[in-house]
Amino acid sequence: ASRGGGTVALVPTMGALHSGHLALVAAAKARADFVVMSIFVNPLQFGASEDLERYPRQLDADAKLAAMAGVDLLFAPMVEEIYPPGVVLEHPKPGPVGELFEGANRPGHFGGMLTVVNRLFDLVKPDFAVFGTKDAQQLFLVRQLSVERNRAGKRHIEVVPLETVRESEGLALSSRNRYLTAS
Ligand code: PAF
Repeated sequence: ASRGGGTVALVPTMGALHSGHLALVAAAKARADFVVMSIFVNPLQFGASEDLERYPRQLDADAKLAAMAGVDLLFAPMVEEIYPPGVVLEHPKPGPVGELFEGANRPGHFGGMLTVVNRLFDLVKPDFAVFGTKDAQQLFLVRQLSVERNRAGKRHIEVVPLETVRESEGLALSSRNRYLTAS
């Protein structure tokens, strides 16, 4: 979609923002007139024994960081807004690539990820969507989703990849790094 004739970029996140997310915003701003960031801890992409409950949530701090980075609109929906009861949702299939690597260890993860990204694409209708290359498999599957959406006649969304941002020692930035100890 365009807002007032301009282009829109979406930066999808699960919040607990760090410099990697802010680099995604900078890339979005370099391409589009209007930047939307979503913050949504998507229950569908967490397995039963994973960290859904303890995943860091800090919306007030994130809103300040997003505003400072130049996000024009912060979309932080409730679960019921993304998955309204009674509404039949599309569940894009990850296909064979989704069975490999991380997909082999986290059954259902990539399907849940694609469901929410597809939903965000439908709701926000961006021209661009910016994703880090840190999760290369996720990036591949989102690109595949974008191609499938084109085939289905939906508007084109350019998936923009961005290089991983790392700590000085080389560790890739992640909201989950706070679970780690020094050792
Ligand atoms: O990479 C993430 O933070 C999530 O998988 C995403 C793309 C925001 C979907 O929930």
